[in-house]
Amino acid sequence: MKDTGFQLIDQLYETQALSREEWVELLTHQSKELSDYLFERAVSVRKKVYGDAVYLRGLIEFTNYCKNDCYYCGIRCSNKNADRYRLTDEEILTCCENGERLGFRTFVLQGGEDPFYTDEHICELVSEIKSRHPACAVTLSIGEKSRESYQAFFDAGADRYLLRHETASEKHYQKLHPSSLSCENRKRCLFELKEIGYQAGAGFMVGSPYQTKEELAEDLLFLKELSPHMVGIGPFIAHHDTPFREEKNGTLEETLFLLGVIRLMLPEVLLPATTALGTIHPRGRELGILAGANVVMPNLSPVGVRDKYLLYDNKICTGDESAECVRCLERRVGSVGYRVVSDRGDHCQFVKKEGCINGVK
Ligand code: 5AD
Ligand code: FES
Repeated sequence: MKDTGFQLIDQLYETQALSREEWVELLTHQSKELSDYLFERAVSVRKKVYGDAVYLRGLIEFTNYCKNDCYYCGIRCSNKNADRYRLTDEEILTCCENGERLGFRTFVLQGGEDPFYTDEHICELVSEIKSRHPACAVTLSIGEKSRESYQAFFDAGADRYLLRHETASEKHYQKLHPSSLSCENRKRCLFELKEIGYQAGAGFMVGSPYQTKEELAEDLLFLKELSPHMVGIGPFIAHHDTPFREEKNGTLEETLFLLGVIRLMLPEVLLPATTALGTIHPRGRELGILAGANVVMPNLSPVGVRDKYLLYDNKICTGDESAECVRCLERRVGSVGYRVVSDRGDHCQFVKKEGCINGVK
């Protein structure tokens, strides 16, 4: 007779779902043995769907201005010590050009919520990138907007949108954000993005202040309901210029455990081994891949601005050229038996080509 934790993982593997009570139960049963059991199953599922391919996303952090004041984030508007910058359109286009040469087929334009960029400006940028790089996907990660704005970006050619929900519990949401922001609006954005036709990504921080097992269970139930194409999770890491400067960081073990259960719950999901995971442990990203992740997101921003996009302390790769990061990641991914592929890496529901799915024959 197997222990409860093992039984719940079997059940999750078979049905891709657990109830709220079962999630809480599973999350309280975390142990080394249970994690090993989970990772073995998660890896078998990801191999069935995506083989040994790991997809690259080139992250272009194009502005660190932000009108929001999230308590955890280093570029919150009230952090007067943040050294603010915006990349010019030319600089962004140069990042893409270098990126395509390095093998990237996805560019992620990420920034704070910066009113300097009008919808027209974003649309022009997106359509220029798409016309110069027709083989590449463009992902936007620029926060909460109206449905009309999301539709306009999509019509201009944007393929994907990342917007972590941060926490699915309204009560917890209010502990991480000022009252001008709501969990309800965040969720509205995500459902609209999916409806419009984006490959949409949600996600949350593991071990964020005041997070309980019940809240994590809520996050997992929300992810199941939304069923996003991508899920970005990484450990919370305190930033010294935020109200959460004294808070404890999320752990490697819990982040890996959540990567594993998300892979079992959403077998086809695109799941990055995040930079934050690589920041709390030197082999965090490799361990993430061994827990079920299948995406890495190296930085394509010019080295001169890298150390200014600091959402949390001790962020890795701030001094490395993009080419170095690609080589470094190829080596890291290879060291655990996987391979970085030069491919758009679409969600399987979006792959139209015959015979070859995302580099998996
Ligand atoms: N630690 C870890 N992740 C963070 N993010 C923002 N601040 C932090 C932090 N201190 C994450 C948020 C956001 C994403 C871009 O980065 O989840 O959605
Ligand atoms: Fe940037 Fe390793 S990924 S140096």
